[in-house]
Amino acid sequence: MTYQFHSYRSLFPILSDYVYLANCSQGALALPVSKAIEEYNRQLLFSGRNWKQSIAKMEETREKFAKLIGAETDEIAILTSVSDAISAIASCLPFRNKKKKIILTDIDFPTVAHIWLAQEQFKNNVTFIHSTNGMIHLTQYEKEVTNETLLTCIPHVSFYNGYKQNIKEIADIVHRKGSLLFVDAYQSAGHIPINVKEMDIDILTTGTRKYMLGIPGVAFLYIKKELAQQLKPKLTGWFGQESTAVFNMSNPVFATGARRFETGTPSFISIYAACEAINLLLQIGVHNIQLYLQQLADYTRNFGAEKGLQIIGPFSAESSSSMTAFYAKNALKVEQLLKEKKVIVAARNDVIRIAPHFYNNKDELTYAITELARLMMEK
Ligand SMILES: Cc1ncc(COP(=O)(O)O)c(C=O)c1O
Repeated sequence: MTYQFHSYRSLFPILSDYVYLANCSQGALALPVSKAIEEYNRQLLFSGRNWKQSIAKMEETREKFAKLIGAETDEIAILTSVSDAISAIASCLPFRNKKKKIILTDIDFPTVAHIWLAQEQFKNNVTFIHSTNGMIHLTQYEKEVTNETLLTCIPHVSFYNGYKQNIKEIADIVHRKGSLLFVDAYQSAGHIPINVKEMDIDILTTGTRKYMLGIPGVAFLYIKKELAQQLKPKLTGWFGQESTAVFNMSNPVFATGARRFETGTPSFISIYAACEAINLLLQIGVHNIQLYLQQLADYTRNFGAEKGLQIIGPFSAESSSSMTAFYAKNALKVEQLLKEKKVIVAARNDVIRIAPHFYNNKDELTYAITELARLMMEK
């Protein structure tokens, strides 16, 4: 396995002390991202009010994210969490003709269900597609999505076991039935290439804190231009207006495109971080990251199995992402013990998730899996 990203390792100070494999929860902080955060602080500390610079940075970040997912700039709104992005859509999606059903899956992150079930007009129209051994077959979408389905909401990659869905094939099915497709890409953006046009996605959201290498406080909402124009967000505010400079209370005019989903002042400091983080991803290329991580994930699964660890899945090559979930009864305890061995992972329920990024190498995986297997033997 050739490791072409060695020169980037020095950008991540954490790597000199720890094996960092928790990208499904929080990406490692890179020096340029940290510098961008300091830059925001420095402006406030020494020059005072930095509104103009902050707005300029917001627009730069919007453009960069649009480039990252193959969208147009005015198809992107900048919000503060994925939950906010989902709530914004849920608050204003109108029933269309006889369509009022919302399809979710049981592999969605729980926040998705919390939000849809909290909507008075939708809560009795929510149906869950159930996974089998952590997977959902296309035939289930064929069966469950009907001509009464308004929106089908799916994760690109499961937060629990790394199962990856084929978005284009699902899009073909749900569109044939006349449903909109909403994709939660929080577990894929930054390490799996996304092109919203080629994948035929109507709405997509992701945050920057995981594989996108930012910090909490920024989430993006992509919404197809034609669709955005038809929606009138109820979760709104002055940033969703055509102009933030016109202080007119009585004649609100929604901004064109996705911007109408913005509300109030965003977390500018997180936007500074996001901008640099996306820079890094664009520089390296998400396609290159994916090619490398596929090899690292294959190694993780093979070596983990050799060491006697139980893989949740496993999935076919097309349905695997770079994250591997190993069964661990007391996962939180194991996470803590691994940290004592200088390995940082993220536990969820009964699994330890091994979620590398381009800055990890094979030796780190060998060490982490050996330590994990040792801990599992001791139990
Ligand atoms: C797939 C997925 N969606 C949504 C969320 C929640 O995102 P937020 O806290 O920004 O609402 C997470 C968080 O871990 C996630 O993994």
